[in-house]
Amino acid sequence: MYIAIMGYGVVGSGVAALIRKNNESIAKNSLQPKMEVKYILDLRSFPGDPFENLVISDFTQIVNDDEVSIVVETMGGIHPAYDFVLECLKKGKSVVTSNKELVAVKGCELLKAAKENNANFLFEASVGGGIPIIRPIHQCLAANEIEEVAGILNGTTNFILTKMINESMTFEDALLLAQQNGYAERDPSADIDGIDACRKICILATLCFGKHVYPESVHTEGIRKISLADVEYALSWGGAIKLIARAKKLESGKVTLSVSPAFVRKSCLLASTDDVFNAVLIRGNAVGDVIFYGRGAGKFPTASAVVADVIDCARHIERRKVFGWEEGGEDFIADYRDNETAFYIRLITSDKEKTLASLAEVFGETDIINRSDAPENELAFAIKPVREGDLGEKLASVFANEIASVIRITDY
Ligand code: HSE
Repeated sequence: MYIAIMGYGVVGSGVAALIRKNNESIAKNSLQPKMEVKYILDLRSFPGDPFENLVISDFTQIVNDDEVSIVVETMGGIHPAYDFVLECLKKGKSVVTSNKELVAVKGCELLKAAKENNANFLFEASVGGGIPIIRPIHQCLAANEIEEVAGILNGTTNFILTKMINESMTFEDALLLAQQNGYAERDPSADIDGIDACRKICILATLCFGKHVYPESVHTEGIRKISLADVEYALSWGGAIKLIARAKKLESGKVTLSVSPAFVRKSCLLASTDDVFNAVLIRGNAVGDVIFYGRGAGKFPTASAVVADVIDCARHIERRKVFGWEEGGEDFIADYRDNETAFYIRLITSDKEKTLASLAEVFGETDIINRSDAPENELAFAIKPVREGDLGEKLASVFANEIASVIRITDY
């Protein structure tokens, strides 16, 4: 079984190395012929690398080689990954990708192309790195109606928040450390602004609810504004701040989605998911809550998921794996501003007594949260669920110049 790998970065090189390392046991356990990497597509050269002789720079060699039946795409980004993947599918080659941007933006179209050409398009590694999550949703939980999927889907931001929580490191220092450790890019915005988590929740929501959710439909906030004061208040409230990506089916049949920092209760496993680990909670109407936890990124964890998909393609070379993945539509997505959500609010006030007196009037019952050594002029509290779209107006009408932080509180 000949395969080609497009993109010889961290994940692509992990795929080649893993296939070489475990080829015997994979063939034995999967009852499939051994795999052989025939080409590695990359514009760079890799002198001294064990696979340097396989590296080519001309994509047409792959697409025109009938011996290559499975192609791995680990290039990242939309172009030229999309163009190459589409051409491979049109030639009836199955494609496996770890590229979440490609799946989140072009998944519906590429699955259609796979169907038309009797090929497979698989993407287990696009969410949660090495954590099995696509196949469990698609197969193991198929008897359920999924009510909600939520999780920590970005390892870099979770590492930064963990450093802030456990070591009182500032956001800036924790980001620098994440960059030094190779987790965050030099331009870290895709991670810290929630864009990466947004793409991943789009893929999970589409699988859970059947219609393509595009990234622009998801209300997305990152973690740049989280301060150590907020981290301390979350601890004192009884939980932790996490970047939570969430998709929930409403009674209307619509789906509401968001990516944002949120207070999570200590009793929920998501609160104790630390460092670069990811965790995904699925709420099914038969199974209840299940949580998947593990390494959401990295060379071999991600290669583990990619190679599993390659094996699945090999097993289904004459058959297709079908996903319930229809084209989406705006009427399928609910406006996040209609969500009823509880919030933590931190104010810096010049007249604490007056502000305290206004709280009940504006929000009804509130829970004051304390932290040691808080400045005299600081006031933090949690409010009961309000319509998100009404909160800004309520806050602006009374506390306009006093708002320091506003963070969602999850109900788990
Ligand atoms: N930048 C991503 C993360 C890599 O930090 O989770 C895995 O998708």
